[in-house]
Amino acid sequence: MELSTSVQKNYAGKIIAITCLLSLLYAVLRYHIVGPVPWKDFPFLILNKGISLAAFILLTFNFSLGPLKNLGVKVSEGWLNSRQVLGMTGFLLILIHALISFMIFKPEIFGKFFEENGSLTLYAGISMLGGILSFVVLWAYNLAFKTTLKEDQKFIGFITSRRFLLIAMLFSMAHLFFMGYEGWLNPSGWNGGLPPISLVAFTFFVVGYIINLFGRK
Ligand code: HEM
Repeated sequence: MELSTSVQKNYAGKIIAITCLLSLLYAVLRYHIVGPVPWKDFPFLILNKGISLAAFILLTFNFSLGPLKNLGVKVSEGWLNSRQVLGMTGFLLILIHALISFMIFKPEIFGKFFEENGSLTLYAGISMLGGILSFVVLWAYNLAFKTTLKEDQKFIGFITSRRFLLIAMLFSMAHLFFMGYEGWLNPSGWNGGLPPISLVAFTFFVVGYIINLFGRK
């Protein structure tokens, strides 16, 4: 019997490397180089911003390349074959983001999220709930591809259905919108005129959402 030796084209490594590099460079540029954040905060605070942006972009690629192809756009095989790795990497980066965020989530660091008495503001509460729900949905989505659950077609069908995905994506929208919209509306306050990372990620989200709305079967 002849073994197939054909190698599938897969650009995942390159896409991940370039996305992480550009996201980190943007975070460094916006917060350290043209912004006021001291370099000592790079390893946690600013790295977290870069990681969350990279994760968001990778996840948007993962969800949107198939629907984009359905819309008639020519998406190369190398990009399509990369989807699963992009999704898993995005999820792992989000895990790092969540762990770092849990550790630094304090009024001293994120004053705008807290009332004077130390409780969360309404919008911060909605934003964090959105982040946590979005994280859990991504987890369920990853689980849906694990072999042990393959038998449960109902579960897989539900988690990967168009309607579920379109609703689930709104959780990450809430995470970004309620965290950042006040700053988005004040361009004069942007470091070096560069838009906040939450707005950059949100823009990716809107494009990805529209592609999914029309292109997902
Ligand atoms: C357990 C779940 C999560 C928690 C506790 C959490 C927490 C946070 C916090 C505290 C921030 C503000 C960070 C900062 O401004 O430096 C943030 C920002 C952000 N999060 Fe999350 N998050 C979670 C899940 C997610 C998920 C699932 C996504 C993507 C799908 C995500 C994407 C982002 C992005 C892109 C930013 C913007 C960074 C910025 O503007 O600085 N997060 N998150």
